[in-house]
Amino acid sequence: MPITERQTRGVLTQTGDHSNTLFSERYQQTYHSSFGALTESMHVFIDGAGVNRRLRERKRTRVLEIGFGLGLNCLLCADNAAIHETHLDYVGVENDLISASQLRSLNYSRWLRHPSLVDELAGLVQRLKNKMQLSEQPNNTIQLSKHSSVTLHIGDATSNQVHQSLSCLPQFDVIFLDAFSPEANPECWTTDFFSQLCSLLSPDGTLATYCVKGAVRRNLQSAGFKVEKYPGPAGKREVLRANIDPKHVTW
Ligand SMILES: C[S@@+](CC[C@H](N)C(=O)[O-])C[C@H]1O[C@@H](n2cnc3c(N)ncnc32)[C@H](O)[C@@H]1O
Repeated sequence: MPITERQTRGVLTQTGDHSNTLFSERYQQTYHSSFGALTESMHVFIDGAGVNRRLRERKRTRVLEIGFGLGLNCLLCADNAAIHETHLDYVGVENDLISASQLRSLNYSRWLRHPSLVDELAGLVQRLKNKMQLSEQPNNTIQLSKHSSVTLHIGDATSNQVHQSLSCLPQFDVIFLDAFSPEANPECWTTDFFSQLCSLLSPDGTLATYCVKGAVRRNLQSAGFKVEKYPGPAGKREVLRANIDPKHVTW
């Protein structure tokens, strides 16, 4: 990895299940659990939010991810969509897009039944980077595979601009809330932001996150979610999923 990328984003780190992640120098934390990046993604997001179940049942699935990061959740969803031959519409929001070479260096293809997905995603990332250099509108969609489309919104997920773009889209079946911790990215864990997410989720949709802190649960409840803690993957006692609370009244 070129030294400039190392300095801004971080150092390649192998986690407990041998899958790679990066350590962010800026936030002083890894992009994934040091006990296992792949295990965490599968447990908290792909299985925890019911994406795998939906795809297995051949239900077309719309996923919104807050914190696209290194693209691991996206690749695992797309791999499962290809395995179950079911359509996936994946929308990621990210304010600091990884480079194509960093994405390739993580070697995520090793964990996929459809390893070519990494090259396709790296191509999208490269095109977005090129557009950003030309100051062109950076939002972009690609057909990642026969069954998956991926759209990336580059910007602050909590900004009005991003919210307006997302509000024009059909509601999501699943939201992955995968920003860094509330201490590092406080803007992504507020009641106001959760209210925005609530409006983007379909009435029977699920939001999943790794964070179970009391303040986060209370903010989710104030925004109109019912929250549920359940046992986490190695190294994490509990994780969280939330559904829209039908009893929540907004005036
Ligand atoms: C824990 S990492 C996400 C890992 C990722 N989901 C994956 O599967 O590889 C958190 C990501 O959230 C991004 N992020 C933090 N604050 C953000 C914000 N306000 N808007 C958009 N992205 C944000 C960070 O740049 C970082 O890439």
